[in-house]
Amino acid sequence: MKIKVINGPNLNLLGIREVAIYGKQDYAALKRQIAEYAKTHGVEIEIFQSNSEGAIVDAIQSCLGNFDAIIINPAAYTHTSIAILDALKAVALPAVEVHLSDVDSREDFRKISYAGMACCQRFAGMGFDGYLRAIDFLIAGSAR
Ligand code: DQA
Repeated sequence: MKIKVINGPNLNLLGIREVAIYGKQDYAALKRQIAEYAKTHGVEIEIFQSNSEGAIVDAIQSCLGNFDAIIINPAAYTHTSIAILDALKAVALPAVEVHLSDVDSREDFRKISYAGMACCQRFAGMGFDGYLRAIDFLIAGSAR
């Protein structure tokens, strides 16, 4: 199984940005934990991060024919981007939405998730573990 992990804007600043919400570990640590977990579970993983909406749309499109599933944390674009929703619908791959924080218990504007409308599962408020649970979920789905 090949999974593309796509991370949106400002996640590259983990460890610096709003540590009370997102924690002290940096983006390199997140990548390391995802890669190690994937390796021990026999999954091929590629991790991508961009601050640009268009680059994220391009990354989703490039999954077509190259990946079996997508794990996506669109960050702030979650709540604004119909382009990302449309790209996820277009490729129609199993997609799991991840958020480090519990978006539903924050500001009202974080309660809407466009990307989530094209995802089959969401893990939010679990920190880095959300990405690992998303891998578990996709592995369980592929075994069915
Ligand atoms: C986030 C939540 C979003 O609302 C926010 O804009 C982010 C990160 C999270 O992982 O908790 O940048 O997606």
